[in-house]
Amino acid sequence: MTHTHWHSGPLYSDFVAAMTRAKQARGYLEVGVRDGSTLVKVDCPSIGVDPLFQITGNVIGKKTRLHLYQMTSDAFFREHAPSKILDAPIDVVFLDGLHQFEFLLRDFINSEKVSHRHGLIMLDDCLPANAEMTERYHDPEARLDRDLAGWWTGDVWKLLPILEKYRPDLRVTSVGVRPTGSICITNLDPTSTVLDDHFYRIVDEYRGIDMDDAGLLRFYESRRIVDAQTILHGFEASLFVGP
Ligand SMILES: C[S@@+](CC[C@H](N)C(=O)[O-])C[C@H]1O[C@@H](n2cnc3c(N)ncnc32)[C@H](O)[C@@H]1O
Repeated sequence: MTHTHWHSGPLYSDFVAAMTRAKQARGYLEVGVRDGSTLVKVDCPSIGVDPLFQITGNVIGKKTRLHLYQMTSDAFFREHAPSKILDAPIDVVFLDGLHQFEFLLRDFINSEKVSHRHGLIMLDDCLPANAEMTERYHDPEARLDRDLAGWWTGDVWKLLPILEKYRPDLRVTSVGVRPTGSICITNLDPTSTVLDDHFYRIVDEYRGIDMDDAGLLRFYESRRIVDAQTILHGFEASLFVGP
C-alpha cells in the first residue's frame, strides 16, 4: 500500500487562470500546452509553447492575441523574446512542460530572464500525491496504486529544495490545488545568474535522489502548503498581485 497525499483546492487550471486575472496580466506564457485546457481559460494576450500540440478545440477563448510555437521550450527561449512577441511585459508564466527536474530548472532559469521583478512564475506538478508518480519515466504498468497509475509528476518536486537552497531571495509558495499542487514564485530577479552558474552542480547533486514513501512524508512535514483561497482572497493576495 502506498501513502497518498491529497490536495483539496481548486483545479490547477482554474487557479492559473484566476491568478492571471488577479494580476491583470498583460502577457502570459505557457510552456507545455498539450490540448490547451489551461490556455483556453486565460483571457490575456498569450504565448503557448509545445513540441507536439494536441489541440482539437478552441484555445483562443476571450484572448485578443495568441501565439503558438511548436518547438521545445529550449528552442523557444533560444530563438524568441516573449515580451517582444506580445509587445507587453510577461506578467505570468506557467511551466508545465517536460516533467524531469533538469528541464523544469532550465525552463525556470529561462523564464525568470524574460520576466520582471513583479512577475509571477507558476510551476505545475511539484506536490506529488504519492511517491510512485515521481518516477522519471512514466511506467503505468509497473505502478502499485492502480487508481493513480495514470498520474505522472516526474521528479519536478526537486525544484522546491533546489530553489530553497540556491535562491533564498525568491518567494516560493506551495499552493494546495488539485491534483498535484502549484508553486507560485515571486520576487523574481531577471539578472540573477546563480542557477545558471550552478546548473551542472545542481543536476549532479539531485539526479540520484529518489522519492519514497518516507521521503514523501518528510517532504510534506517540512513545508507549509497554502490554501488557494488565501492567495486569491486572503492576506497573501496583495503580495501576489504586486504593485
Ligand atoms: C502535462 S502536459 C501540459 C498540460 C497543459 N499545460 C494543461 O494544463 O492542459 C505536458 C506537455 O509538455 C509538452 N512537452 C514535452 N517536452 C517539452 C519540451 N521540451 N518543451 C515544452 N513542452 C514540452 C508535451 O508535449 C505535453 O503536451
